[in-house]
Amino acid sequence: MSETFIPQLQELAKSARMLALVGASIKLRSDASVAPAIREQIDAGARMALGDVVDVTDEEQLSLAQVMVEMALSEAGELFRNPDRGSNWEILDVAAMQAMGRASKSVFTRIQSIAEAHPGLRKTFQGTFLDVGTGVGGIALEAARLCPDIKVDGIDIWEPALELARKNIAESPYADRVSVRNLDVSMLDEERRYSLAWLPTMFLKRPIVEAALDRIARAFVSDAYLVAGVYSRPDDPFLVLMASLRTLRSGGEISDPADIKAMMEARGYVDIGTSATPIATFVFGRLP
Ligand SMILES: C[S@@+](CC[C@H](N)C(=O)[O-])C[C@H]1O[C@@H](n2cnc3c(N)ncnc32)[C@H](O)[C@@H]1O
Repeated sequence: MSETFIPQLQELAKSARMLALVGASIKLRSDASVAPAIREQIDAGARMALGDVVDVTDEEQLSLAQVMVEMALSEAGELFRNPDRGSNWEILDVAAMQAMGRASKSVFTRIQSIAEAHPGLRKTFQGTFLDVGTGVGGIALEAARLCPDIKVDGIDIWEPALELARKNIAESPYADRVSVRNLDVSMLDEERRYSLAWLPTMFLKRPIVEAALDRIARAFVSDAYLVAGVYSRPDDPFLVLMASLRTLRSGGEISDPADIKAMMEARGYVDIGTSATPIATFVFGRLP
C-alpha cells in the first residue's frame, strides 16, 4: 500500500466515526439507561462533528438526520462487505426484511405531508391505495394507520416478504383494510379501482416502469394520484455516482426524476410536482 494516501484515509475514517457519533447522540436522547460518562463523551463527539446538533429539538429534522445516518452507515457497511452483490430482492433474512419495512414507513408520512399543500392528493386518502413492491407491508400499514378511511392493496413478487406482510397485517388493527398479493406490477389487471399509487422506480427496470405506468393508468379512477420515487441525485459528482450505483444495486435503472416526469406527461398526468430530500425524490401527479 502506498504511504501517500494514508493521511487522507485517516480523515475519511474519522468522518465515518463522527457520523456514527451524531447518530448515537440523537438515538440516546430517548434512552435514560445509558451511563452518564458514556453519554457525555458521545454528545461531546457529536458536537465536535456538527456543532450544537445535540441541542436541536425539531423532531422532523432529528428524524430525517437519524434516517440519513442509518442509511449512510448501513449502505457503507453493506457495500464494503458485499461489493460483488448483484441486484436482487431475494433477501431471506427476516430481521433485514422487517427493518426495510420499518425504514420505508416514512414514504407514507412524506406523501401525507405533500398532501397538506395538495387538496386533490388528500382526497385520494378516501379511496384505495396501490402499494407497489409492498414487501413486508411497511408502507401499506403506515397508510392504514395514518388514514382511517383508506383501503390498501399491496403487491409484490417476493413470496417470503409477502408471508411476513400477511403476518404483520394479521397482527395489526388494520386487517380489514389492508391486503397483499403476489403480483408483478407489469401484470396488474385492475380497472378503475385505485385513487392513489406508490411506484418505487428505484427497484424496477425501465421496461417494467413503462409497463407499470400503463397498467396503473388503466387501474386508476378519475383524478387519481401517482407518487413515484427515485433516489435523489444531489449536485455533487460523487453523490451522483452513489445514487446511480444504489439504483443499480437495488435492481433499478432510472436515476433522473426528469425521466419519470416525461413518462407521466406522455400518459396525460397533470399538476406534476416533485418533492426532494437528500435520500429520495418523489415525482407526483394527477391523472384526470
Ligand atoms: C425495498 S423493497 C420494499 C419494502 C417495502 N416497502 C416494505 O415495507 O417492506 C422493494 C420491493 O419491490 C418488489 N418488487 C420488485 N420488482 C417488482 C415488480 N415487478 N412488481 C412488484 N413488486 C416488485 C421486491 O420484491 C421488493 O420486495
